[in-house]
Amino acid sequence: MRTAAFDMADEEETARFGGRLAALLREGDVVGLCGDLGAGKTHLAIAVARALGVPEGVPISSPTFTLINEYGGGRLPVYHMDLYRLAGPADLYALGPWEYYDGRGVCLVEWCDRFDDLWPEDALVLKLHLGEGTARRIEAAGRGRGGELVERLREPR
Ligand SMILES: Nc1ncnc2c1ncn2[C@@H]1O[C@H](COP(=O)(O)OP(=O)(O)O)[C@@H](O)[C@H]1O
Ligand SMILES: [Mg+2]
Repeated sequence: MRTAAFDMADEEETARFGGRLAALLREGDVVGLCGDLGAGKTHLAIAVARALGVPEGVPISSPTFTLINEYGGGRLPVYHMDLYRLAGPADLYALGPWEYYDGRGVCLVEWCDRFDDLWPEDALVLKLHLGEGTARRIEAAGRGRGGELVERLREPR
């Protein structure tokens, strides 16, 4: 397991972090976003999607109720999911995220820690921690491809 922590002073810095991550992503990558309500999971997902080239004219909204939103028009298709409202594993099976995890795009999955044992092993997980005011800490962890992304994110800019 590779891990690293990144401190964000404000939402612009979080958006730049999303831009750096987007530049590293390729087909089939899965990125989990977890952390409390308001930590910035959706903000970061939107920054990644925009940096992948989803056009500004395409509105990106939280998938809290839709569960999965798909965005084209960028370098890779983006599948933005939210597992918060799933009551149990049966709901996850009904949603069938594996088709997307193994798909041709990039998955950005909020509340990825809802079903830890049904989470892909080689995904990148970003845990966002609320700090004072606009401060946030992002803890990155991953194995395999996820670990590779952690290492790439750690590289000096
Ligand atoms: N450093 C930061 N990174 C991300 N969001 C921040 C930061 N500072 C303040 N915010 C604000 O926190 C809120 C995060 O909301 P959101 O991304 O919807 O959270 P979540 O999806 O984790 O519930 C937004 O209103 C955003 O503007
Ligand atoms: Mg959210």
